[in-house]
Amino acid sequence: MLLAIFLYMIYLMKNTFFNEPECRKKLSEFVLTAQRLSMDVKCREFEKEFAKYQGRKYAVFVNSGSSANLALIQSLLNLGLIKKGDKVGFSAVTWPTNVMPLIQLGLEAVPVDVSEKNLNVNVENLIGLKEKIKVLFVTNLLGFSGRITEVKEYCEKNKIILLEDNCESLGSKVDGKKLGNFGLASTFSFFVGHHLSTIEGGMICTDDSNLHDMLTMVRAHGWSRNIDKNAESGLREKYNVSEFYNKYTFYYPAYNFRPMEINGFLGLEQLKYMDEIHKRRAENFKKYVSAAKNNVDFHKLDFSHMEFISNFAYPVICANKEVFAKYLEKFRDVEIRPIVGGSTVEQPFFNGKKYSCPNAKKIHELGFYVPNNPDLTADEVKTICKILEG
Ligand SMILES: Cc1ncc(COP(=O)(O)O)c(C=O)c1O
Repeated sequence: MLLAIFLYMIYLMKNTFFNEPECRKKLSEFVLTAQRLSMDVKCREFEKEFAKYQGRKYAVFVNSGSSANLALIQSLLNLGLIKKGDKVGFSAVTWPTNVMPLIQLGLEAVPVDVSEKNLNVNVENLIGLKEKIKVLFVTNLLGFSGRITEVKEYCEKNKIILLEDNCESLGSKVDGKKLGNFGLASTFSFFVGHHLSTIEGGMICTDDSNLHDMLTMVRAHGWSRNIDKNAESGLREKYNVSEFYNKYTFYYPAYNFRPMEINGFLGLEQLKYMDEIHKRRAENFKKYVSAAKNNVDFHKLDFSHMEFISNFAYPVICANKEVFAKYLEKFRDVEIRPIVGGSTVEQPFFNGKKYSCPNAKKIHELGFYVPNNPDLTADEVKTICKILEG
């Protein structure tokens, strides 16, 4: 009986990679023949190709999206762009490891409410903010963003550093630009189930060479081995370090967030399929939108400001608690989840009592997401659409 239930489930993700059998075969070959398995040429090559794909100057490959967020905030501190105690705004609906690095590194994490129409931060959410924030670390949720060009302009006008957690929105576009290209830097996750999987993995992209060098040091122990040679000479001169001692000189607070060659190899392989992955996710999304269009049980969402949506999972916000309970039952054979971490204000790790984020609370209490992945069959998409129709 239990087996029968499992057989009929539609899961959030089916595979570790796109085109899994071929990818596993190539990976086996690679593992058998590669000279080195610790970070080396494949990781460097993947960084180069990913930066090109994303349209940014630099990409720093790390071992997870969470590490990418922590490395980015540590780097801003090391560069003196921010200091302990500064206020950092973040999207109230996000993943916890977008917020945790802020707390861990002594910053004041300030939740910014999101729009109930597009689930993301928009200028109107910033205008109402009581706290004066130094940085805004937005999360582009589930393949969507708010009206991010306006957010960027608002940040520039108010001297706020804009960062994007783009772990869920690889490939989506607004105003002719890929998400992840609006702020000083952006982070990506390559965990299984994300648009691109390297099993575990993450990336930080930026156009700023100083930040790139700092991220490179923060990724590996705070040493200077992998940074630009001129920057390395500058550091050695500043601290009067000989070539011999430079190998074990640690210039800044850092971590070990290095990925492995296996991850680099997988990144390069999976990058080949990005167009196909985005196409399938976008097509499924359109079908879901069309199915849910006239369903009065759901709040209307509006992503008309977006040029291309590579959807991560399809969000549903129910009209009330009864409707919510009804759809949990209707979707019993489909793997659904709360909308990412829901409202961070409601999470036990975050001391959020003093903050009010009513839209995030609504999304937390009445929302869930439905699978969208490139391996869904036409029948599975149809089954989900049927339920979304109401
Ligand atoms: C928005 C967001 N940020 C950060 C992360 C963390 O990424 P990882 O699981 O690779 O550590 C995730 C993971 O799903 C995420 O959705």
